[in-house]
Amino acid sequence: SKNYNITLLPGDGIGPEIMAVAKTCLVEVGSQHDIAFDFTEALVGGAAIDATGIPLPPETLATCQASDAVLLAAIGGYKWDTLPAEQRPEQGLLGLRAGLGVFANLRPANILPQLIDASSLKREVVEGTDIMVIRRLIGGIYFGKPKGFGVDDAGNKTGFNTMIYSVPEIERIARVGFETAKKRSNRLCSVEKSNVLEVSQALVTRIGAEEYPDVELSHMYVDNAAMQIIRAPTQFDTIVTGNIFGDILSDAASMLTGSIGMLPSAAVGSDGPGLFEPVHGSAPDIAGTDKANPLAQVLSAAMMLRYQFGEEEAAAKLEKAVNDLLDDGYRTGDIMSEGCTQVGCTKMGEILMAKLKAA
Ligand code: NAD
Ligand code: IPM
Ligand code: MN
Repeated sequence: SKNYNITLLPGDGIGPEIMAVAKTCLVEVGSQHDIAFDFTEALVGGAAIDATGIPLPPETLATCQASDAVLLAAIGGYKWDTLPAEQRPEQGLLGLRAGLGVFANLRPANILPQLIDASSLKREVVEGTDIMVIRRLIGGIYFGKPKGFGVDDAGNKTGFNTMIYSVPEIERIARVGFETAKKRSNRLCSVEKSNVLEVSQALVTRIGAEEYPDVELSHMYVDNAAMQIIRAPTQFDTIVTGNIFGDILSDAASMLTGSIGMLPSAAVGSDGPGLFEPVHGSAPDIAGTDKANPLAQVLSAAMMLRYQFGEEEAAAKLEKAVNDLLDDGYRTGDIMSEGCTQVGCTKMGEILMAKLKAA
């Protein structure tokens, strides 16, 4: 039988609640496919700050680096919001992404037909939407230097960050974009702000012409893209974009699917372990109330099975279980609509397990 070492990072807020669901589902689907998972739990984010004083203890990074894949829930919360930027839980997440070298973040937003009425947009607008946002994860304004606080010429206090990309960084993410588009509908849209920013110069064009002449490449300014994604989302297939633009556009795209509680992601790019995590955060407003939607976490586990291990059947089984319970009308509060049955996080996990066992 196959054996995979997985580091689980439950993190903060709803993190432990949704991770518990994903973990039981993985064990079940593993047992059906002759896969044994060795889980190691580690601390990151606020939980790590409370236990060790820092958001990414070296042991956590080492454990992650030594595993076959990392499944993260979410980090952050009110308790740590007043800490200086460099000591906050969020830095733990950035350090983890950088430490694993996962430069490409795949954030799919596809509409499940059962959830069309949970979208805040009209049925005819969202129907058929299937977008893959590829976000440059470990560069750009999140990591650029110089950064910090200063004083301007007039003596006013300032804060500054630097948005910077090197040509090789852009070329390697462009290749991920083209390769992804090739497996989908051969359409890639590069979203930038190249009308204003040097950092956004349309560098993907050369790669496209030389290496991927069959992929139809388009360019769009990010402000227009934010509007277009809501106006007519089906025009998009694969989007490649920078770190902060991808962060914002993927949250916007989530509402097409009904809720950010549905969106998984895969951070890949190195030869080592990938990092699989929902697009959403730790939802401190509903933490501890059993209201969280665990499906983005479960679908992130499915992405892990598919992208890290090539376990297509096991991944598909998880996705089918999600699909089946939606067919049966079970919904957490964030995706609730008329005529459906509202359940909590724990109950959703139990229903998923029942679906998996029946599969
Ligand atoms: P958030 O995604 O945590 O929450 C935004 C809204 O969506 C909230 O109303 C929340 O209740 C809801 N929501 C999110 N996930 C949900 C789910 N699974 N089920 C039901 N509802 C869900 O974003 P935020 O409020 O801006 O940030 C909260 C904290 O999370 C902050 O500390 C932030 O830095 C952190 N954060 C972490 C990650 C991550 O770990 N990858 C991502 C985003 C934000
Ligand atoms: C995300 C989050 C993170 C990001 C924060 C918590 C650092 O918003 O994963 O989308 O901005 O990348
Ligand atoms: Mn985000």
